[in-house]
Amino acid sequence: MLEGTQIGRFRVLSELGHGGMGTVYRAEDPIIGRTVAIKVVRLDDVGSPEMQRHLAQSFLREIHTAGVLQHPGIVSIYDAGKQDNMAYIVMELVPGSTFEAMLSASPRPPLPALLDVCRQASAALDYAHAHGVIHRDIKPSNILVQPGGAAKIVDFGIAKAAQASTMILSQTGTTLGTPDYMSPEQVMGKPLDGRTDQWSLAVVAYTALTGLRPFAGEHFTQVMGRIMNDAPRPPSALNPAVSPAADAVMAQSLAKDPAQRFPSCSAFMAALGEAYAAPSRENVTVTMVTPRTPPPLPVQEAPPSPPPQRKTLRWVVGVAAALAVLGGAAVAWRMGQSPPSAPAPGEPAPQVAAPQTRAPRPRKTSPNKPAPAASAGPAAAREIRTHTVQLVSTPDADIVVDDKPESACHSPCSLTLAAGSHTVRATRAGYYPLQAGIDVQSDGQQIPLNLEQATGSLMIKTDPQGATISADGTVLGSLTATTIHLAMGHHTIVLAKDGFAPYSFEVTVEDSLVHTMSVTLAPAH
Ligand SMILES: Nc1ncnc2c1ncn2[C@@H]1O[C@H](COP(=O)(O)OP(=O)(O)O)[C@@H](O)[C@H]1O
Ligand SMILES: [Mg+2]
Repeated sequence: MLEGTQIGRFRVLSELGHGGMGTVYRAEDPIIGRTVAIKVVRLDDVGSPEMQRHLAQSFLREIHTAGVLQHPGIVSIYDAGKQDNMAYIVMELVPGSTFEAMLSASPRPPLPALLDVCRQASAALDYAHAHGVIHRDIKPSNILVQPGGAAKIVDFGIAKAAQASTMILSQTGTTLGTPDYMSPEQVMGKPLDGRTDQWSLAVVAYTALTGLRPFAGEHFTQVMGRIMNDAPRPPSALNPAVSPAADAVMAQSLAKDPAQRFPSCSAFMAALGEAYAAPSRENVTVTMVTPRTPPPLPVQEAPPSPPPQRKTLRWVVGVAAALAVLGGAAVAWRMGQSPPSAPAPGEPAPQVAAPQTRAPRPRKTSPNKPAPAASAGPAAAREIRTHTVQLVSTPDADIVVDDKPESACHSPCSLTLAAGSHTVRATRAGYYPLQAGIDVQSDGQQIPLNLEQATGSLMIKTDPQGATISADGTVLGSLTATTIHLAMGHHTIVLAKDGFAPYSFEVTVEDSLVHTMSVTLAPAH
């Protein structure tokens, strides 16, 4: 609502987002000539003038403390003040998205990339703690991730100001945000130190590992009760790609007693990094991803649509740079991304993963043969039970059971299989190969297999930034610079920004790696 107005010397341009304590705007600093982010807290939302003064004071006091922090992993604070009925804080504008958006992206980015964000946050938190500043509100939306993957923590100290005004805020019904990431000592209102941030970072890391919050509940009180009393489920039980060694690290980082946790945030993330890469993971990764087409370049230069700008526009495909950041991780892409709430169909489940149906298994005596051997005696034949089952994949795909070529069929198809467990592999161009454990139990049983469309990622940067992106005629939600996910195949992308000529290009996605593209927009005439 403040667009076009002036706050301090800053001109408000557009809203970036809002949360429990205020609204964040993109704004312009006319003196320095740079774009900044301004967080504005409206004081007239919060009770009596005395309460408003109190909130403004605690807000500015905390900014004063947090303002001394200078670290590449921490959003710099430029200015703060009070104007009319608003307190505001002016800070570095971070292009990209929040870690929250990354965690809920579909498909999810590879797990190593997610853990790398947590690792960067851990270093920034240790730095802040060494300077006597506790964040108190570490959560995915307070970790901003730039297009190149560099992460920055925002909102240092603001939670303390909010906490000082908790009564005021809750009186007027303002949402205080989520308690999901609060430590037990925070829930109890005890004095805090850096270990509360270690806890919250562990909750973030747990969410990255499993796709679920460790203490999820239906309402605040339930969540808080779980934080105080419950041990979360081991992450490896929710995501088979996580090693049991990582379970132990997570359990320590989420110890109710701060003294039992890791001595620092980076000690925690170092332990998690090591444990995550522990041996058991290799068994899981081997069969996972086989990007269908090896050539690494998804971008082809063929921008015939609005040709007028051809000369002034440049585009660069920085494959090497992007691969250095994410390429290695892309190999494990499918491993880390499936939320455990739906582990069976979408997941390239390793042999150890849960089968799709969990009926009691027949005795081990049944051999892995589709039909009873003719030479077997009548007694043996009776023991070998077979069932004719229907394999139905969405969309249709080539299916092989137990890697036996004679079982190959194209979905939907019927196969006669020995009762018990089998491994099914389904493949189709443009989709991630699926490997799943199945349990054959009865004749006519339908076995659904859901393939997930393979996507490639394209990081688009424009100069100036903030262009809208449309892919094949549909406008996407995010502005440049950002990373978009595209299905395999051919797409037309159009970049548009007020005052600049639209720029269109064609892209053919052939692999699931991350590629980059930079465009200099030409002014419109
Ligand atoms: N310095 C910043 N640069 C760019 N975007 C920001 C910045 N600070 C906040 N944002 C955006 O504004 C949104 C709202 O922030 P905030 O009011 O702190 O709520 P929350 O942290 O609960 O999401 C964030 O989710 C983020 O997308
Ligand atoms: Mg925030």
